[in-house]
Amino acid sequence: MVLSTKSNHVSLKGFDKVKYELNKYHAERYWGIFVAALLIWFWILGYPWMPPVAFDSALLESQNIHTVGVTAGQWYWMLDDRGNSQNANDTNVNTNNNQLYVKAGETVKFVARSIDVNHGFGVLSSSNQMDVPLFQMQVVPGFDNIFYYTFKKPGIYTIRCLEYCGWNHPYMVSSITIHAA
Ligand code: CUA
Repeated sequence: MVLSTKSNHVSLKGFDKVKYELNKYHAERYWGIFVAALLIWFWILGYPWMPPVAFDSALLESQNIHTVGVTAGQWYWMLDDRGNSQNANDTNVNTNNNQLYVKAGETVKFVARSIDVNHGFGVLSSSNQMDVPLFQMQVVPGFDNIFYYTFKKPGIYTIRCLEYCGWNHPYMVSSITIHAA
């Protein structure tokens, strides 16, 4: 008659008693509401970062879009300056990393292409202590992968591949210098 005594809560002990009390107050319902509210809160926090929303504000703020071409390959990054016009001819590439001159505050349109496999174009703000990721975009071969971003502060930003792409993936690192406005 173990079962019949178990249904009488007075005789419950330890964890069984805790479970009985939690059920009495419908604790699982509140736990469910709490988790749902947390997920909705994360969605609200992330909303401004969703590409269409983030890009809209970047495009509204700036008439002058600075286009930067990104070529990804095993295992390197190549950046090229495509000029300071919204109508920059993306096919007229002037490939010279030293000529890349991006200023803080201007809206940068990254147009990334991969010559081989999937890469992750990750841009990080670096200090002696740590790298803080600013954004990441998948670079899928066969597509122009586009991301708009405005650097607020001048400095040297680290570019790091954030998608495993072969044995040398951890060393697929470069940088982009942002000049004072
Ligand atoms: Cu390219 Cu990992």
